Amino acid sequence: MKHYDNVVIFDHPLIRHKIAILRDEATSMKEFRELVEEITTLMTYECLKDGVPTTEREVKTPLEVCTQRVVKDNAIVIVPILRAGLGMVNGIHVLFPSARVGHIGMYRDEETFEPQTYYCKLPDGIEDKLVLVVDPMLATGGSACDAIRLLKARGCKHIKFMAIIGAPVGVSRVAEEHPDVNIYVSTLDRELNEKGYILPGLGDAGDRLFGTK
Ligand code: PRP
Ligand code: URA
Repeated sequence: MKHYDNVVIFDHPLIRHKIAILRDEATSMKEFRELVEEITTLMTYECLKDGVPTTEREVKTPLEVCTQRVVKDNAIVIVPILRAGLGMVNGIHVLFPSARVGHIGMYRDEETFEPQTYYCKLPDGIEDKLVLVVDPMLATGGSACDAIRLLKARGCKHIKFMAIIGAPVGVSRVAEEHPDVNIYVSTLDRELNEKGYILPGLGDAGDRLFGTK
């Protein structure tokens, strides 16, 4: 894949280890859900290395008062793309328990792979927040591009997108359509099959998270 300044591929040994278990068809729903959360927490740590709104706060240690930099209250909004994105929300809430959550419901048409939006509910004031859009799978990139477009139309200016597994074609599409959005992907897989599934991938993330197949 071409290099994009707005794309970070993690390729971290700890994350790779967890993704190997995630891919395994023998992994249970419970373990799958826990792994998605753990990987998301690890990704969030890196993804928020810069660009998180912070403020100064006075802290009294047992020895003296000092000024410390802390993350601003109510600075982050998590936006999962339903359904599979829901599996990543707790992984961020572990770090930011008070982060508000907006929901965008989308499914891919099985023939055309075009995303269809069926739900959207976003917190008031989202325009000025750092918006973390999450979806474990970035395949053709259609869902991610449409979700980001929808958020921009609502006035959001600071958007980051996080996916656990990306296909080169989808990552390139989002990077090119939204050069102002930083994209974080844990691992880049080989390609898509004729049904739009990522290879080697992990199958249907929503079905594996919620046991629907
Ligand atoms: C999956 C996945 C993404 C989308 C990725 O959702 O969670 O939202 O496909 O594909 P794309 O990059 O080609 O748009 P799906 O449509 O299976 O819905 P679900 O999460 O409700 O199962
Ligand atoms: N959505 C999934 O859940 N898995 C894929 O491989 C592609 C899209």
